[in-house]
Amino acid sequence: MQNMDNVFIFDHPLIQHKVSLLRDKNTSSKEFRELVSEVAVLMGYEVTRDLPLMDIEVETPLAVAKTKVIAGKKLAVVPILRAGLGMADGFLKLVPMARVGHIGIYRDHETLEPIEYYCKLPSDIDERDVVLVDPMLATGGSASGAVNFLKKRNVKNIKFMCLIASQEGIRRLHNDHPDVAIYCAAVDEKLNEHGYIVPGLGDAGDRLFGTK
Ligand code: URA
Repeated sequence: MQNMDNVFIFDHPLIQHKVSLLRDKNTSSKEFRELVSEVAVLMGYEVTRDLPLMDIEVETPLAVAKTKVIAGKKLAVVPILRAGLGMADGFLKLVPMARVGHIGIYRDHETLEPIEYYCKLPSDIDERDVVLVDPMLATGGSASGAVNFLKKRNVKNIKFMCLIASQEGIRRLHNDHPDVAIYCAAVDEKLNEHGYIVPGLGDAGDRLFGTK
């Protein structure tokens, strides 16, 4: 994993391989969904690396083992609707005890500001560490807006996990929220005039759900 100032790029061969399959326009929706979930599991493994442990004792068939378990850290995964749902699914396979919140955001055509149209979070979200997920960090507007919404609800520790980021998206999210670690599998060069990441993988929501 490469680290540049709170931005982590996953260079693991399995992640790189699966992201290449995701980019392929001939990959079906079924395969796309499975791959997004698999990559989220692999990324989640690193994103949860700093979970605190506590010592316990367990009786094996032979003796008492002094061993460790996760120390009851409260986690929530929050997908940005709708494409984030695919990544939340993978993350939950790894951390099934995490709670799930949902944030729906659209961009106002005139002001270009992110508007929250749906938000349902666990009632104790202010006590939880949050992993915010969205496959594509394009302009960074939605991600930055979602972090604002979480911070307004007193969430203190937020990580952002995506598949492909643009340089611009990383700059925007990092400038607005330097405390939020950004995890991604690839950083692509540019955005087109419609705000899509190029070369990217197209519209992640459409590819996940077979819409167009
Ligand atoms: N959202 C997507 O689904 N794809 C992009 O390239 C940018 C934003």
